[in-house]
Amino acid sequence: MPFKAVFVSVTLGTALIVAAFMLNARRPGLGNRSRGGPFLAGQPSASFVRATGKCAECHRHETAAVVHQYEMSVHAAKGVSCLDCHSPVEGQIEIAHSGFTIARHLTAANCRTCHTTEYEQYVRSRHAAPAWAAVAGSQGFTAEQIAFGEKHHPGWVDRPANALAQAEGPSAITSGCAECHDIGKPNLDGSLGTCTACHARHASSVSLARRPETCGQCHMGPDHSQLEIYHESKHGVLYNDQQHIMNLSADPKHLTTKDMSVPTCSTCHMSGLDGLKVTHDTTERLSYFLFAAVSDKRPAFQRGQTEMKEVCLKCHSKTPIDRFYDEAAQVVSDTNEKVRVAAEIIRGLRDDGLLTPKPFDEPIEFLYFDLWHYYGRTAKHGAFMGGADFVQWHGNYELLLKTTELRKMAEELRAKHETQQSAP
Ligand code: HEC
Ligand code: HEC
Ligand code: HEC
Ligand code: HEC
Ligand code: HEC
Ligand code: HEC
Ligand code: HEC
Ligand code: HEC
Repeated sequence: MPFKAVFVSVTLGTALIVAAFMLNARRPGLGNRSRGGPFLAGQPSASFVRATGKCAECHRHETAAVVHQYEMSVHAAKGVSCLDCHSPVEGQIEIAHSGFTIARHLTAANCRTCHTTEYEQYVRSRHAAPAWAAVAGSQGFTAEQIAFGEKHHPGWVDRPANALAQAEGPSAITSGCAECHDIGKPNLDGSLGTCTACHARHASSVSLARRPETCGQCHMGPDHSQLEIYHESKHGVLYNDQQHIMNLSADPKHLTTKDMSVPTCSTCHMSGLDGLKVTHDTTERLSYFLFAAVSDKRPAFQRGQTEMKEVCLKCHSKTPIDRFYDEAAQVVSDTNEKVRVAAEIIRGLRDDGLLTPKPFDEPIEFLYFDLWHYYGRTAKHGAFMGGADFVQWHGNYELLLKTTELRKMAEELRAKHETQQSAP
């Protein structure tokens, strides 16, 4: 039965029959394909359970979309109630609401109650403390959180607030930086971040989390063009052609290459494909600090590479994957060299007193920042995720162009300085 037909019959008032049928199809042991009801190709969520109870009955009139979203979720099918999430946990502000006590604000702590494993994996990733510290520095974290973050990511949590953010000001931070980086923001209840960035609040969907656009809410634009790179890669074009026949809502514990024979962001960085382990630690499978100006190897370089290659090897043979990695590593070392040359020009100017110590107050500083932060990063990300255009035209070509401009600007600064010195 196609999804549209289900929807129509619900609106015709046969909701109970449909819900009973769907619930029935969720019986364990029916295999992956029948999870969430009959396999409905390409539909974001394939289940529907009519919500009852006081919250739902009243909210069906007040905020109907919330109830509809919830009714599509695995939570509704498994009897997880509104109050199971909305009850305050320790450290949260309680409010009285229509005869119930609910939390004023929900955080990852409300999900952690039932999903401890996912929380523990997430909280040691760079999506947690380092992501928030990238903007705000160590401010707002407890001493224990700083110690925990530093244990997993030495130097990336106990750091000053970001200089560019400071220069841009509070409204740019609140509606800009923080909208992406709050994925790791410390909460009043002692937990970090949010789970709803990838799952949404009420659909609690894995199919949503497996879509590249979901990661692309934050992973896009010239400084981290992962979404754009993906869409031009062979993986991305195949996904765009075949997503309607892929089983994006397959049970994470039994995800097979038959469900998804083309990888999305989550497949490579998180999924437990064909017997691998699902992880919410998006840092685990990485081997370089690609986002850095000069990319060093990560402390767990070898493990990171082995774990990612294990994913590739579920679909590819070893020789082309090793070659792909060797070629990408070459782009990393060449980009490092190109950025070092540019960094040396800036350092020379600073050493000779031609630049103020303050960051982001002179045009040449922006030129250098764009050079590594846009074009250097893009070249490296493109090489590792199959984006030739990003390695070349948005990457190396721009690196060459910006280095030429940087040299010219540095010469002009020196010439101006000399004229000033020799002026009577
Ligand atoms: C008798 C009706 C009624 C019941 C029962 C009810 N609510 Fe509400 N709820 C409302 C109304 C009305 C609002 C305000 C909507 C608005 O601001 O437009 C609201 C708002 C909320 C908000 C947003 C609060 C905020 O300040 O942002 C949450 C969360 C919420 N309800 C959850 C629940 C939960 C969970 C239950 C069950 C434990 C529940 N509600 C039961 C009527 C109800
Ligand atoms: C899986 C956990 C979960 C379940 C189950 C759940 N909610 Fe929520 N709900 C959330 C989260 C998370 C938020 C965001 C709260 C925040 O930011 O403080 C939220 C927000 C809301 C809001 C505010 C929406 C807005 O945009 O203003 C309402 C109203 C609400 N929930 C009602 C309900 C009702 C009614 C049910 C049951 C039918 C329900 N919720 C079930 C997690 C849940
Ligand atoms: C009261 C316990 C409880 C709470 C609280 C809870 N969940 Fe769940 N969650 C469950 C259960 C039970 C399942 C079904 C697990 C299964 O069948 O394997 C589930 C499944 C899920 C799934 C997998 C859905 C799928 O398609 O397989 C996601 C994602 C999820 N929850 C996210 C969340 C998020 C995010 C929150 C907080 C906003 C949350 N949960 C809060 C109990 C809970
Ligand atoms: C709400 C914004 C947001 C969403 C949505 C998001 N990310 Fe991220 N992600 C970030 C931020 C911010 C960082 C940078 C953390 C840091 O290094 O400070 C990051 C970093 C990463 C990293 C690098 C981790 C490391 O150790 O350097 C990976 C890999 C990653 N994300 C994958 C994903 C995937 C896959 C998805 C979707 C399933 C996703 N992200 C969704 C904001 C987001
Ligand atoms: C559109 C979402 C988005 C916005 C807006 C955004 N970032 Fe990021 N930022 C990311 C993502 C995604 C990464 C991860 C890049 C990677 O790992 O390749 C990142 C990485 C970083 C990093 C490098 C990682 C680290 O931990 O040091 C810093 C620093 C940073 N961002 C600071 C900022 C500041 C400051 C602002 C605002 C001036 C900002 N970001 C705005 C998404 C965003
Ligand atoms: C960066 C995006 C992202 C964030 C943030 C995130 N998840 Fe997930 N989650 C995913 C993806 C992707 C999957 C499915 C992995 C796969 O393909 O099998 C998933 C799967 C799950 C599942 C099903 C796991 C299983 O083995 O059945 C649960 C439960 C879950 N997430 C809960 C959470 C909780 C709780 C949090 C917050 C601590 C959270 N998620 C934060 C992306 C995310
Ligand atoms: C085919 C597998 C694959 C897919 C699909 C994929 N990635 Fe990656 N990703 C990689 C590899 C490999 C690396 C480099 C790993 C390393 O450092 O060893 C990487 C690096 C990254 C980084 C860089 C972290 C850093 O050090 O700066 C981020 C962030 C990221 N990916 C996010 C995403 C997002 C978001 C998507 C989807 C839009 C995506 N990836 C799709 C394999 C993949
Ligand atoms: C879920 C399966 C799957 C995973 C995981 C996967 N790929 Fe792929 N990949 C494919 C498919 C399918 C194609 C298209 C092959 C074809 O043209 O028949 C492809 C194509 C490619 C291509 C382009 C080949 C060409 O010449 O067109 C490269 C390069 C590649 N993958 C690298 C990787 C790397 C590196 C990883 C791991 C980081 C990886 N893939 C992970 C399924 C996968």
